[in-house]
Amino acid sequence: MVDSQTIDKAVEALRSGKLVAIPTETVYGLGADASNAKAVQKIYELKGRPSNHPLIVHVQAPLPASIASSLQLERDWISILAPWTRHIPKTALILIKYFWPGPLTLVFERGKSVLACVTGGQETIAIRSPAHPLTQDILRAFGGGIAAPSANRYGRISPTTAADVRSEFPQNPELLILDGGPCEHGIESTILNVSEEGNPKLLRPGTITPSQIKTATGIEVVADHHQHSQSPRVSGSHQAHYAPYTPLYLYHEGDVNQQITEQSKKSSKKIALIVWHDCFDLYRKNFADLSAQLELSSVEKNPKQFGQILYRLLRDLDQKNFGAIFIPNPPLEESWDAVRDRLQRASFGSGPSSSNQVSS
Ligand code: TXA
Ligand code: MG
Repeated sequence: MVDSQTIDKAVEALRSGKLVAIPTETVYGLGADASNAKAVQKIYELKGRPSNHPLIVHVQAPLPASIASSLQLERDWISILAPWTRHIPKTALILIKYFWPGPLTLVFERGKSVLACVTGGQETIAIRSPAHPLTQDILRAFGGGIAAPSANRYGRISPTTAADVRSEFPQNPELLILDGGPCEHGIESTILNVSEEGNPKLLRPGTITPSQIKTATGIEVVADHHQHSQSPRVSGSHQAHYAPYTPLYLYHEGDVNQQITEQSKKSSKKIALIVWHDCFDLYRKNFADLSAQLELSSVEKNPKQFGQILYRLLRDLDQKNFGAIFIPNPPLEESWDAVRDRLQRASFGSGPSSSNQVSS
């Protein structure tokens, strides 16, 4: 049970234009009152994020007790969204009914009074209703929307615990960080663009997959072919993101022997080799000669479980000062898309000089 003091403190901080780190079921967010330009500006400053990168506005969900019927539920969602968007397509309402509150972000046409600093100056706005009970209590008590990107420094690994958030911003003791425990999914929300005619377009893969959406609602999600050339911008869509300081390599099982041998000659620093759980004994035997230089650990070959621990794993490995981290390439299946996407970007932006390469 959350104590009401915590909620009061968070609401007071939001009302006075301060930042509050909030837990969600995906990752922790760095929140500000979405209707206060000065407060929103602080998010960009603290994260070091360019001001043309739009934020997600987090909104409350209708209280289950207040919902008398499906029509009532629809009305409640429409009134919650009214301040933020001028058009809610039918498809969006269906998605909302199935997946909100939850790890799905929808991009709509923006409402007239939405601040340009929230949308990065675009004509669209990203909105989601997070499923974390503490953050829902805060949203209800606050009464407004909370603009929040993931609570990490720009381009770095998203935080999945309150302690991770603190370690991202150690110089900011005044930042209020709410502890809602470890995040349930561990990976950011799926983002769909519903602001244009036609089928929703996938802007960022997440734990909710297009097949799950199709099965639940019959709605076909399509790929977004304009993602890299046009608005809306998705900062997580830049090539380098979620990146550790230690060089991270994704390996194919056939090549890993050679890669590890080469790496062991390049540097005397220990190497972290992550393998699928089922292959652990095989690899241990394989690399018996290099055992002093290798730290072997295993992960389950399961996209949901891997997603839950991915950022934790990267953060923990990054602390240990390895010369390199090797992680297996995830299978080329839709259920792995979100994990594969984050790993590829983490790998691209990794390494000690990555702050120069990171573009988002
Ligand atoms: O799970 C999540 O989505 C987490 C939690 C805290 O809610 N938030 C998150 O925020 O991942 P952030 O800012 O790290 O990533 C949100 C992405 C960004 O890449 C941003 O560019 C994109 O959403 N976005 C925001 N507004 C948009 C818009 N109007 N059109 C397209 N993309 C948008
Ligand atoms: Mg982020």
